[in-house]
Amino acid sequence: MVLLKDTTIGVANRTTEDIGTEGDEDLQQVFRGSDVESIEEIIDNVIESNGRSRKTLILILQKIQNRLGYLPRWSLELVSNNLKVPLSNIYGVATFYHQFSMELPGEYVIQVCMGTACHIKGNSENYNFILNLLNINPGENTSRDRLFTVFKVRCLGCCSLAPVIKVNDEIYGEVDFKKIRKIVSKYRATARGRKDNGMEVYR
Ligand code: FES
Repeated sequence: MVLLKDTTIGVANRTTEDIGTEGDEDLQQVFRGSDVESIEEIIDNVIESNGRSRKTLILILQKIQNRLGYLPRWSLELVSNNLKVPLSNIYGVATFYHQFSMELPGEYVIQVCMGTACHIKGNSENYNFILNLLNINPGENTSRDRLFTVFKVRCLGCCSLAPVIKVNDEIYGEVDFKKIRKIVSKYRATARGRKDNGMEVYR
């Protein structure tokens, strides 16, 4: 099982080549070279189109979170170096907004839409139901088996289907407790099936 660890300090100055060739097992567990390249590309592109500002920082963090599912420390160090902003400021922004997470997410990331339409149609209750169903403790967002991570997000852009949740790239509309149970069971069964076949379940 490759369990990514987010414990490395001071890696942002390393090049992709350093990471791939130096045989440092800890580092290689932390990230793949392709991740670093894609994050560097994201940072360059956003700076090129928007300059260096707070708005740029938020855009970069959003794109990294979309790409990796969370904001590992090494990615924040890359942002800090490229934007020439102290790491502590980057952390300040990343921890201020609920949309950002610095924890490694579970295999399946469940986004619960809290846009107006979904909120009115009961997604707050659905969110609490999901946390209960997955036995996620208050203040946490990942199940103990690391299979699921649950986030509240803003409008997912398909309000006519409200209330909506998204699991990884899959959208589910008009969800209620019954439908949520089925969705969660489906992903659990998939994970179990992969485990039974000797395949990797968790990242
Ligand atoms: S409000 Fe939920 S998809 Fe728009």
